[in-house]
Amino acid sequence: MSTSMSVDIAHPASAPAVASPAGAGASTTTAAGLSTAVPRSAPAQAFISPPTPPLLELRRVSRSFGGIRAVDKVSFSVQPGTITGLIGPNGAGKSTVFNLVTGYLRPDSGVIRLRGEEITHLPPHAIVRRGVARTFQIPREIPSLTVRENLMLAPGDQAGELPWNAWFRRRQVQAEEQRWADRADEILTLLQLESLADEYAGHLSGGQKKLLELGRALMQDATLILLDEPGAGVNPTLMHRLVAVLMHLREQGRTLVLIEHDMDLITRLCDWVVVMDNGRPLTEGTPQQVQREPRVLEAYLGASA
Ligand SMILES: Nc1ncnc2c1ncn2[C@@H]1O[C@H](COP(=O)(O)OP(=O)(O)OP(=O)(O)O)[C@@H](O)[C@H]1O
Ligand SMILES: [Mg+2]
Repeated sequence: MSTSMSVDIAHPASAPAVASPAGAGASTTTAAGLSTAVPRSAPAQAFISPPTPPLLELRRVSRSFGGIRAVDKVSFSVQPGTITGLIGPNGAGKSTVFNLVTGYLRPDSGVIRLRGEEITHLPPHAIVRRGVARTFQIPREIPSLTVRENLMLAPGDQAGELPWNAWFRRRQVQAEEQRWADRADEILTLLQLESLADEYAGHLSGGQKKLLELGRALMQDATLILLDEPGAGVNPTLMHRLVAVLMHLREQGRTLVLIEHDMDLITRLCDWVVVMDNGRPLTEGTPQQVQREPRVLEAYLGASA
């Protein structure tokens, strides 16, 4: 007997849970593709799942540079399968949060957890291996390589990088290269960049470079993707494409955190928004809630004064 039920996710902006179809087995799958096993013999009313833990959790995370408290006791959670916006005026500490989560910087204090596991002091490659990808505010393409070559470089840890593999395990290396080439082609199609596959990355427009930066992150097949201003400098046509891709990623059950200054983009895409100001967490809520908060308006007006 199977029972259809929904998984209770504590976060107000949690992704809707997807009930398993009747007769499909006693498990429940959330939008993030997580499966909650249910004992077959238990009565229906006993099938109350515990709340899904956040995918990412920051607890009182701080980091200073000299006298500047770039990130000051910041706490927030990101629920699986959602798009969370991280907003705030220039210098609020948003990119520093990404650098802390991805291991590019170490916090002075506080705790960062991924699926409940502490990752606070792990190096970047260990965090990548746990399924976290990111884009940089300023795209990091290699201009003298083609768009496809830039994508194929992105995953790292490839068998062919070890000289002894290249000599002794040619077939394995070739098969892996083919898999990465196929994946690069899928991503080029998703981003509608196929016609630019053999173009030097240095010849792309600013907006196209932003899409390539997103593509490089997608090569890792990550669960959690941190996007630092993916829409900055992107023209309306490319923006339309970007929005469609980000929505598609959420439909696939990926979890996104989006730093953006474009409030229209935040409102269209985000389930939940965390606002920072001057290194500190200011407020959080739905896009509609945070936009109504006078403190948010003040922070932005103060920053532009
Ligand atoms: N590596 C660093 N060394 C010294 N200061 C830094 C470093 N990185 C960031 N800062 C400082 O920390 C503060 C927060 O910077 P951060 O780049 O995180 O802000 P942001 O919210 O991403 O701003 P923006 O919207 O302009 O990108 C700023 O005062 C910045 O000058
Ligand atoms: Mg920034």
